[in-house]
Amino acid sequence: MGFSKEIIGWYHQNKRDLPWRKTTDPYQIWLSEIILQQTRVDQGLAYFNKFIENYPTVDLLANASEKEVLNHWQGLGYYSRARNLHFTAKLIVNEYKGVFPTEYKDVLSLKGVGEYTAAAITSFAYGLNYPVIDGNVYRVLSRVFGVETPIDSTLGKKEFKELANELIDSKNPADYNQAIMEFGALQCKPKLPKCEDCPLRLSCFALENDLIAELPKKEKKIKQRNRFFNYVVVIDEDNIYLKERTDKDIWIGLYDFPLIESTKKIDSFKTIKDSYNDSDLSLSEKSIEFKHILSHQKIYATFWLVNAKNSNYFDANFTKIPLKEINNYPVPKLIDNYLQSIL
Ligand code: ADE
Ligand code: SF4
Repeated sequence: MGFSKEIIGWYHQNKRDLPWRKTTDPYQIWLSEIILQQTRVDQGLAYFNKFIENYPTVDLLANASEKEVLNHWQGLGYYSRARNLHFTAKLIVNEYKGVFPTEYKDVLSLKGVGEYTAAAITSFAYGLNYPVIDGNVYRVLSRVFGVETPIDSTLGKKEFKELANELIDSKNPADYNQAIMEFGALQCKPKLPKCEDCPLRLSCFALENDLIAELPKKEKKIKQRNRFFNYVVVIDEDNIYLKERTDKDIWIGLYDFPLIESTKKIDSFKTIKDSYNDSDLSLSEKSIEFKHILSHQKIYATFWLVNAKNSNYFDANFTKIPLKEINNYPVPKLIDNYLQSIL
């Protein structure tokens, strides 16, 4: 039996029961794929259900405010996905009369939709013959067929794409695509793949040649950047000062606190205080260091809870809100973690 038949057979025996697999509604499939781009299924599932409950149609999503959409997204990370989702919902309503585009090239042109997501949407919703290629697929194909070309090289991308185009079951692209992703997620896992009961164990190149840990190959190692965030948390009676993030950086559109970024860890409150020369600050409590890891940066955050007697400076530069309304403001997970620890 060929590769495609094997993994489709495996899929029918082993697939998880997931809501986006029971629909051909392109809106729901699009939503699920955007969520799953950088989020694991077990975490994404609750968010998918919440979005479908709040916005059962693309019109309802388009009519929501961006702040509300970001608020529902809170905790999922990679917030540009939520902004693109909202932007695209409005585009579908305004430019496509509320009908999700049905051609691959139109789907691909949507903000936040790359080749992988376009293939997923058009195969699952319309049965079009486009193979998905994501991290799972690279891993499965490189191991089964022994492709050693780096997956992040131009040549590698081309070779894997050609192979994927040959392998896809053109009679059933939707099941084939679901199957290979599910196979990568559950059977041919990054670490400790389950080779003992794998239907491909007799033909798998990596298993035969003891190359499982080496495949897939990558050319570059991603460099991590260290950042030191000092948040100045000013609570004045029952109010707190927030700052909407508007610069070209992480977390655009979310709220955090007055921030001093430094290249090294800051230990003394004097350094913090000196950064705000026109206000009268006294330290109430310094937090432990919170470590927050993103894909290309590590953030070390310290929260300096302060009293600000004369808060003209903060009034002028930040948004003062009643503490009890904090849940109406979308905040990064890091800020949420801190708030949970003090409130
Ligand atoms: N990851 C990305 N798309 C997925 C899907 N449709 N099902 C399960 N995991 C996925
Ligand atoms: Fe993956 Fe192991 Fe199966 Fe090969 S035999 S496809 S490495 S799970």
